[in-house]
Amino acid sequence: MVKVVYWSGTGNTESMANMLAEGIKGAGNDAALFNVSDIDKDTLLEDTVFALGCPSMGNEELEEGEMEPFVESLESELSGKKVALFGSYGWGSGEWMQTWSERMTNAGAEVIGTVISNEAPTAAEEKELKELADKLVKAL
Ligand SMILES: Cc1cc2nc3c(=O)[nH]c(=O)nc-3n(C[C@H](O)[C@H](O)[C@H](O)COP(=O)(O)O)c2cc1C
Repeated sequence: MVKVVYWSGTGNTESMANMLAEGIKGAGNDAALFNVSDIDKDTLLEDTVFALGCPSMGNEELEEGEMEPFVESLESELSGKKVALFGSYGWGSGEWMQTWSERMTNAGAEVIGTVISNEAPTAAEEKELKELADKLVKAL
């Protein structure tokens, strides 16, 4: 079973989370979707393999109210974890995902893949999310 934890303000990252979960199920595994406010870090850290989703907010940053504190709480315990990252962005160039991915790597996680979507995900991102789901299931 793969936990997919996300924050989404206007639903784009949520759509990506749903596509990723469908991909995980399509790859023959179970997915558990959590809004970040509905899971605590210790529950997530029971697993070695998981996915995190958050749009670009602030100025190329994670959403500051819930996702940023959650990610910060994970950082000291990421050694050996295999993590997929995804999220939606608007007018930027996707810099927030680069920063986020480097941050997770520096904290000791293996980032097994990232998918970003300009606003709502299209069929192209759906395909990328399916491929990311396959990688997650293989990493289990
Ligand atoms: C307060 C706020 C800050 C944002 N900051 C950025 C940004 O720095 N870079 C960017 O590319 N998009 C930015 N966006 C656009 C969102 O990332 C984009 O609309 C995204 O699709 C929202 O995802 P969601 O529907 O999952 O909330 C911002 C949006 C809001 C509301």
